[in-house]
Amino acid sequence: MSAKIIPAKRTENITYAVRDIVVLANEVAKTGKEMLYLNIGDPNLFDFEPPKHLVEATYQAMLKNKNGYSPSSGIKEAVEAIRKEGSRKGIENILDIFVTTGASEAIDICLTALVNEGENVLTPTPGYPLYTAIQSKLQAYKIHIIWMKQIIGSLILTTLKRR
Ligand SMILES: Cc1ncc(COP(=O)(O)O)c(C=O)c1O
Repeated sequence: MSAKIIPAKRTENITYAVRDIVVLANEVAKTGKEMLYLNIGDPNLFDFEPPKHLVEATYQAMLKNKNGYSPSSGIKEAVEAIRKEGSRKGIENILDIFVTTGASEAIDICLTALVNEGENVLTPTPGYPLYTAIQSKLQAYKIHIIWMKQIIGSLILTTLKRR
């Protein structure tokens, strides 16, 4: 007999549109309909190739077994390179640098570090659904800032809606 796995209550309101829609799309695909998946824009499927020197450096590092744990504060050379790139782009007020595996991890870490349960978070909508998914996980209130196009063409803040 297998035990029933009960998800934590905090997961009840978590939605993640770009991934949730795949469940529905897969159901439709079973009927034989051809599907065009536009939910995730993977650049590698189109015209993006990672720079060759980056691929080569990763390969060489792994050959040298340099793929273990890094220092908690980051690999010094990498942190310095990021600071330098920030400076080249005119960003001078960097207090700290930490590297994550993609934007998703950074968004989760930052929101988790900053938002308490029941607090309000302003979220532009439409927007990338991960922000609201994490707010749901943290049991924060989402205040959706709804952007609409004004006649003159600039984006203006029109409505604040609490959900
Ligand atoms: C606005 C925005 N934020 C976050 C993400 C997630 O980024 P990553 O795939 O690096 O985790 C995406 C991905 O498309 C995005 O478009």
